Amino acid sequence: MIRMIALGSDHGGFALKQDIMKWLDAHGYEYKDYGCYDESSCDYPEYARKVADAILGGECDRGILICGTGIGISIAANRIPGIRAGLCTDCFMAEATRLHNDANILALGGRVVGPGLAEKIVETFLTTPFSGDERHSRRIRKIEG
Ligand code: RB5
Repeated sequence: MIRMIALGSDHGGFALKQDIMKWLDAHGYEYKDYGCYDESSCDYPEYARKVADAILGGECDRGILICGTGIGISIAANRIPGIRAGLCTDCFMAEATRLHNDANILALGGRVVGPGLAEKIVETFLTTPFSGDERHSRRIRKIEG
């Protein structure tokens, strides 16, 4: 069950994050925004770290990270043990990263996907469970080392 979602972005993801927050409000999801809080230039690793810490510390159950492409912020998040951030540009990827990778963070590119598609990706990410299949669990264990 998802009780709280951690949101983070840099300036390149700030505008899309505002759309996602509206969508989460409209659909009854609780979230905390860990920044950034305006479009001033800033560094995406800081927000990847804040959102990862919120998940690893148990404050939040899932995260959504957004930078211009989604690439930098997902690279940064995936360096942190226990974080599995899936960069998704469509709903197929969002479904697969939950079913197969048990991703705890969705990464999006604010300069890549428009708000309509991003909202569908978010919905898919939040509503798709991990498959629980042993082969997928085994592979995740191998990532964790
Ligand atoms: C910032 O201009 C941009 O580099 C950043 O948002 C992201 O796309 C990096 O991967």
